[in-house]
Parts: sequence; structure tokens; C-alpha cells
Amino acid sequence: MTKIIGLICGSLRKNSYNRIIAQSLTELDDSHQFRWIEINDLPLFNEDLEISILETVTSFKSAIQDVDGIIIVSPEYNSGIPGVLKNALDWASRPLESAVISRKPVGLIGATPGGLGTVFAQLQIKQVLEAMQVHVLPFQKMLISQVHKKIDSDQKVLTDEQTKRYLQQYLHQFIHWIDHTPVLD
Ligand code: FNR
Repeated sequence: MTKIIGLICGSLRKNSYNRIIAQSLTELDDSHQFRWIEINDLPLFNEDLEISILETVTSFKSAIQDVDGIIIVSPEYNSGIPGVLKNALDWASRPLESAVISRKPVGLIGATPGGLGTVFAQLQIKQVLEAMQVHVLPFQKMLISQVHKKIDSDQKVLTDEQTKRYLQQYLHQFIHWIDHTPVLD
């Protein structure tokens, strides 16, 4: 059955490599639907704001609710999770008893011009997601190092064939996992 996959990019940068990678996922699979879930307009999380009905927060939460699974494609900042992504995940985790992100299947992809493929950020993101009772695709890692060499910066497209194949495999495994994992309450 066709799945709807939400894409969250952990970088707000206009020419973000991670956004290019996320965009390439949408071109590697035409049997499923992809939807961007944007995080740039969210306010800084503040418990005092939780009682207000903020349009940006409401539409962010419904966007999460409406998808079958989410793939987060994020850079690593200072060996950790980018603040904007943590902010978005904190919003998605509230209110605790009806958190939209809770039990959602999530996949993690990260790209960096560096050599370690965002491994430290992914460990942190996984830890944060586990605290929110989110299922993260087990056993698979999708770490993209030296990403600037794998992209045509003028066209803003992924050109490296091997990376495309890895991404396609990751995507298939993610969708297969969503299809075959019973929803846990
Ligand atoms: C970085 N960068 C970086 N890269 C990395 O592999 N490990 C790291 O710990 C860091 N730390 C870091 C901190 C800060 C504040 C910045 C701005 C950058 C480099 C980072 O991978 C690079 O800027 C990417 O291009 C960011 O991803 P996008 O925006 O291209 O998707």
C-alpha cells in the first residue's frame, strides 16, 4: 500500500546538503508519497506557550499526524543534534499524553562534508527519540560523508550513484519496516 513519508530537514540553510539529500529521496521512489514537514517557523519551545494555540505549532503537529512515517535528514553541529531540530522534536513531544510523534516510525539520515557522516548527531537524535517513545529503524545506518563531492552544487542534485543506491536501499528497508511492524500501544 502507498505510504506517506514525512521529510524533516535538520538544517535551515538555503543550500543545505541535507535538504538536497532529502529531496533526492523523493526522486528515488515514485510508489510512495513524500511530504515536507517544515520546522523553520516554529517558535523556541517554551512551556508557557503550550496553552496558546499557535498556528505554526498546530500545522506542524498535524503534518506529523498525517504521515505514516518520518525520515529526518540532518547535519551534525558540534558533534550533536542541531538546535532547530531539537526544538521541533520538543514541540512534537508535547503534550506528553497525546504526543503526535509518539510511536511514529522514524528513519535517520545525515550528511556532512566531514568524514564521520554525522554519527554523533544520529546517536543523540536516537536517544532523544527513544525518550519520546518513537520507533527508530533498527540496525540500519545512513551516514553520508564528504557529501560536497557527491552533489552537483550548481544543479543542487545528488549525483553520486553509489549514494543513490544506498539511499534507495535505506528507503525500501524503512517502508518494509513500516509495513511489517505492528503498531505498539
Ligand atoms: C558544523 N559542521 C559539522 N560537521 C560535522 O560533521 N560535525 C560537526 O560536529 C560539525 N559541527 C558544526 C557546527 C556548526 C555550528 C556548523 C555551522 C557546522 C559542518 C556541517 O556539517 C556543514 O556546515 C554542513 O554543510 C551543514 O549541513 P547542511 O546545512 O549543508 O545541510
